[in-house]
Amino acid sequence: MLWCLTRTRIPRRRGLGARIAPLALALLATACSDDGRDRRRSLGESPKFDDVMRVADAARGGRLFGQCAACHTTSMGAGDRNGPGLYDVLGKPVASNSRRYGYTGALRSLGGVWTPERMDLWLSAPAKLAPGTSMSFPGLPDPLDRADIIAYLRTRSPEGGGAAARPSAP
Ligand code: HEC
Repeated sequence: MLWCLTRTRIPRRRGLGARIAPLALALLATACSDDGRDRRRSLGESPKFDDVMRVADAARGGRLFGQCAACHTTSMGAGDRNGPGLYDVLGKPVASNSRRYGYTGALRSLGGVWTPERMDLWLSAPAKLAPGTSMSFPGLPDPLDRADIIAYLRTRSPEGGGAAARPSAP
């Protein structure tokens, strides 16, 4: 949303502004009802992960997280559902975010840390990254959808979301 606002020039002059503002707002609403079409276009055919992360929209990611929310919470202390709680998951070792949760051997044996890159692989096809995982979610084919969700998870990862979770600097 912020992204849209910073890119939409609303006329300053009063008379003209008064006439154009409603139109501008209508356009803004359409642009921001967003599906990410403009961002997709600006990224081109096969964008690099860092480039996609650079334009990621955490607010849209929060909305997209709706499809994860049946199985996952993202608030501190909210606990596990079918899947482990995801508050502060970025930057944590894989299969460790919830102490009480019974992770599969498939996920535990994966090792490593949830960097944004790793999360991107996981969300594109969980069963491909960790064959035998109990996360019965087919994956998100769209890189921008994944980036937006990762940006959202970063806002929910105040500790791990620091240096470890940041994409490499431009
Ligand atoms: C149908 C339920 C379900 C849905 C939907 C689902 N997950 Fe999961 N998720 C799980 C389960 C179950 C696990 C534990 C997997 C294992 O132990 O193999 C898991 C594990 C994870 C982990 C690893 C956490 C850790 O501590 O290492 C992350 C990250 C994750 N899911 C993110 C997501 C995101 C983001 C979405 C939405 C795009 C999502 N999941 C959708 C059930 C689900």
